Amino acid sequence: MTMVAEIEPFDPSIPELITDPYPIFAQLRENDPFHWSKFGYWVVSRYDHVREVLMNRKDFGTGDFSNNLKLFYGPDFDVLANSSYRWLSEVFIAKDPPQHTRIRGLVTGSLTAKRVRAMEPRIREICKELTDAFIADGHADMMTQFAYKLPVMVICDLMGIDHRDPAMGELTAAIPEAFVVFEARKLTEHELTTANRRIDELEAFFRTQFEDRLAHPRDDLLTSLAQTGSAPDGLTMHEATTVAIALFGAGFETTANIIGNGLYQLHRHHDQWERLVADPAGLSGSTNEEVLRFESSLVAAYRTALNDTEISGHPVQAGQRVLTLVGAANRDGRKFEEPDRFDIGRGAADHMSFGGGIHFCVGAELARIEGRVAFEHLATALPEMKVDLGSGAWRDNFLFRGLTRLEARW
Ligand code: HEM
Repeated sequence: MTMVAEIEPFDPSIPELITDPYPIFAQLRENDPFHWSKFGYWVVSRYDHVREVLMNRKDFGTGDFSNNLKLFYGPDFDVLANSSYRWLSEVFIAKDPPQHTRIRGLVTGSLTAKRVRAMEPRIREICKELTDAFIADGHADMMTQFAYKLPVMVICDLMGIDHRDPAMGELTAAIPEAFVVFEARKLTEHELTTANRRIDELEAFFRTQFEDRLAHPRDDLLTSLAQTGSAPDGLTMHEATTVAIALFGAGFETTANIIGNGLYQLHRHHDQWERLVADPAGLSGSTNEEVLRFESSLVAAYRTALNDTEISGHPVQAGQRVLTLVGAANRDGRKFEEPDRFDIGRGAADHMSFGGGIHFCVGAELARIEGRVAFEHLATALPEMKVDLGSGAWRDNFLFRGLTRLEARW
C-alpha cells in the first residue's frame, strides 16, 4: 500500500481542520501533494505548487462563477438568485481579466500607498486609546477589546465612517456571516439565508454612504471611490458598493485574526514574547511576518483551471477547481528551514499569506502596518501580559482562521 492511500479525503468541515490543521496539511503536502478531494477538486499544499497556481493568470482564474458553486450544490441550484453569491461574483477577487484589471486599478488608485502610510500615526493613537480603556482593569478579552476594534476603527477612519455610528455593531457582525460565501463547500440553508440578509444590509448601508459622499465630498476612501464614477470607465454606484463591502470586511476580518493568532502564538512560545518585549520596535515587523507565515488568518485560496493545463507536470483539466492551501505552503520545509518552529527573528516575508499574482492582497501594506504597530504597542504597554491560551476556541470556519476569545491578565 502506498502512503497516498492513507490520506483521508480532504473535507474542509472536519473538526480537526479547525482545531489544528497543520498535521493534516503536512500529511497532504508530504504524501499526496495533488490530492483529489471527494468534493471534486484538487488540493495543492506544497509551496512551489501553491505559488505556481496563484501566479499563473493564463491558466487559472475564476472562470464560470456559477458552475464553480454548482459543484457543491448540484446543477439545478440558482447560484446568482442568492444575493450573497451574486455579491461575491461581482467582487474583483472573483473576476478574471479584463474586468479584474479595470476594477482593481480603480481601487488601488484610491487605496494608495500614500493614503495607507499616512494612517500610521493614527493607528498608533488608536492602539493607545484601546489599551488605555482597559489597562487599569488588569485583564481583557484581547479579541473583542483590542484585536477586532483596532482594524475596524482603522478601516472606518480610512473610509470616512464614524466607528461610533450605532449601525456599526450590526455591520461588523454582518461581515463574518456574509463572508461565509468564500468557503469552498455547500452552506447550510441557515448560513445561506443569513449571508443573503447580511449582504442586503451591507449594500443598503454603503449605498447611503456613497449617496452622501457624492452630495458632500470629503477627503476619504469612499469619496475617492465614488468620484471614479465621473470618469468614462469609472465604478458605477453598484460596483462601488460591491467593492466597499469587500474592503470593509477584508479590512478587519483577516487583520483582527492576525493580531489574535499572533498573541496566541507569542504566548504559546513564551520565549518569543520575551524576545519581543526586549525589543518591540526592532522586532515587531518580523514578528508580524512570522505570525502571517506560521498562523495565517486566511488559510487557502481557490482557482478554476481556465484551460487544460498542469501544475509542475500534474495534469489539470479545464473547469476543474484547485484549492491552494496557503497555510500548508507556509509550513513547507522545502522552502522554510524548521518550518514548524515559531521564530520572530526569522525575517521571512516570502510566505504566501497575502496570495500572489494578479490577486495579491490589495490591503497587504495596511495589514502589515497594523500588525507591526499592534505588536509593538502591546509588547510596550503590557509587557507583563499573561494570555490564557485555553480561554477561546478556534472559530468554526476553515478559510478564515481565528479565535473567538483570548483572555489576558497583567
Ligand atoms: C492579515 C491580513 C490579510 C490577509 C492574511 C489577507 C489575505 C489575502 C489573500 C490570500 C488574498 C488573495 C486571495 C486570492 O488570491 O484568491 C487577498 C486578496 C485581497 N485582499 Fe487581503 N488580506 C489581509 C488584509 C486585507 C486588508 C486590510 C484589505 C483591505 C483593506 C484586504 C483586501 C483584499 C482584497 C480586496 C483582495 C482581492 C484582490 C484582488 O482580487 O485583486 N486584505 N487577501
